[in-house]
Amino acid sequence: MEPKQAKIIDLPKFFDERGNLTVIENAREIPFTIRRAYWVYDVPGGEHRGGHAYRNNQELIVALSGSFDIIIDNGVERQVFPMNRSYFGLYVPSGLWREMANFSTNSLALILSSTAYDEADYLYDYDEFLAFSQHERK
Ligand code: TYD
Repeated sequence: MEPKQAKIIDLPKFFDERGNLTVIENAREIPFTIRRAYWVYDVPGGEHRGGHAYRNNQELIVALSGSFDIIIDNGVERQVFPMNRSYFGLYVPSGLWREMANFSTNSLALILSSTAYDEADYLYDYDEFLAFSQHERK
């Protein structure tokens, strides 16, 4: 099987002199049902977040404010997605290693997830992730 890929989703935007609006609806813009939302903010300069994979959880990550990079590793190659627009979401399927870095001051990352929080769903060990990823591709 081909390695999985993260992909940028161009979200609907309603540009308006009164201010812009962007929307996400379950199943319409994203290929999963939203079970959970969380956000990462006040990240000190130079810090990394993430640095793990999920066995099952899928997610969409949006830079609501400011900018940061999302580094995606599918076990074969690494890609960097610079996020700096609130109408682009990065869809991250399960089974990909992901890190977030280079947060600008006052950046705000929204993460919409397909599952409830479950510590057991995390793969924190990179070698364990590689083994999981290779097994999935067979
Ligand atoms: P974690 O996912 O490890 O953050 P990051 O990947 O950015 O380093 O979560 C950090 C802490 O927050 C951890 O103690 C668990 C807690 N947490 C929840 O309780 N519920 C959640 O939905 C998330 C994402 C984290």
